[in-house]
Amino acid sequence: MNGAVLYRSKYGSTGQYAKWLSEALQVSLINVKEARSIDLTQHDYLVFCSPVYYGKLLISGFIKKNRSLLKGKRVYLLVVSGMDEKAKDDIQNMLNANFDQKFSDYHIKWFYSGGRMELEKLGFFTKFLIKKLAKMVKDEKEKAKLQNGYDYIDRKKLNALIEQIREDGK
Ligand SMILES: Cc1cc2nc3c(=O)[nH]c(=O)nc-3n(C[C@H](O)[C@H](O)[C@H](O)COP(=O)(O)O)c2cc1C
Repeated sequence: MNGAVLYRSKYGSTGQYAKWLSEALQVSLINVKEARSIDLTQHDYLVFCSPVYYGKLLISGFIKKNRSLLKGKRVYLLVVSGMDEKAKDDIQNMLNANFDQKFSDYHIKWFYSGGRMELEKLGFFTKFLIKKLAKMVKDEKEKAKLQNGYDYIDRKKLNALIEQIREDGK
């Protein structure tokens, strides 16, 4: 089965997951932002990986633009963000808000893995915004995440997605 992992990433955590996925599945790894041209027609399945910034799924524009090319393929999406993995409704709402038509109409199987935020790597203005946001957030756990950063990156979190792709390919 010929597939590809396509991703966007600003600070590397989604890039790390995408690399692990491409290695496990032995398919090509494509950075959507950097690739000159991307031919989606040759692949049987596609795995999109994207972080969330300010409520926006970074790769949603690319998916929407290429919607007609996704027909007849198996399509998966790995969402990477600061959200709690148990907050399935929040993730689903974010997905619905990021797609013009109903997200379910895209027939994309989505999975979720926690990402990473290292405050020292953020630019001055972004760090300022995050600190301001931390003051406004009431939930203590969420506040601590914004104040101290976090690292939820874990290769094992990809197992369910990898299994699903293999199962669907049988
Ligand atoms: C400026 C900024 C805004 C963010 N906005 C959101 C957000 O709206 N929702 C969310 O769940 N996570 C948010 N995050 C967390 C990122 O999605 C998370 O750190 C992710 O792992 C980053 O992926 P990357 O390292 O591939 O760029 C934000 C992080 C930063 C630095």
